Amino acid sequence: MALDTTQQNRRMTHFNDHDAIWLFGYGSLIWKAGFDYLERRPAHIRGWTRRFWQGSHDHRGTPAAPGRVATLLPTDGAICHGMAYRITPDILGPLDVREKNGYLREVVTLRFADGGTTQGLVYIATEDNAAYLGDAPVETIARQIAEAHGPSGPNRDYLLNLDEALRALDVEDAHVAELARHVRHLDGEAPDAR
Ligand code: BEZ
Repeated sequence: MALDTTQQNRRMTHFNDHDAIWLFGYGSLIWKAGFDYLERRPAHIRGWTRRFWQGSHDHRGTPAAPGRVATLLPTDGAICHGMAYRITPDILGPLDVREKNGYLREVVTLRFADGGTTQGLVYIATEDNAAYLGDAPVETIARQIAEAHGPSGPNRDYLLNLDEALRALDVEDAHVAELARHVRHLDGEAPDAR
């Protein structure tokens, strides 16, 4: 896969004739959209698991010391909870650029927490992209996140903001919670009942 996925995403014309598009967020989009939207609703998608397996050398790390950010892993029977945004199509161009480090648009069925489904888009970084890091022991991933900083800020903030946002949505995500516990410990924070 090309290092920069912007052009690949522009060729993905699935919703081009729509006035509005639903976009599913499972990472930083849950706590900070960074774009204008028409509507925002808690939602989930089936068949995907959130994992901190994507490297970030442009936002939460550097080429010399990449951070780790969330991507989705195809997983039978899994559910990934997040936040759905109804956006106008002009939002996608800047998002393609912002997420050019390996993320590709994928069409998914969004299931709203308060009922109803719709087709929408999600950005996923698959294992064939150049920035993909994959699995590692939880201590290794946590240390990498605790130490990495990039143009968008400390990698730890991305993880801990996501952990807080998922708790606020009443979502239990064992992978995120375990990583957050380790990073807080590395930061010297006292353990609590989380
Ligand atoms: C997200 O926060 O859900 C996200 C958005 C774009 C690319 C990857 C993840």
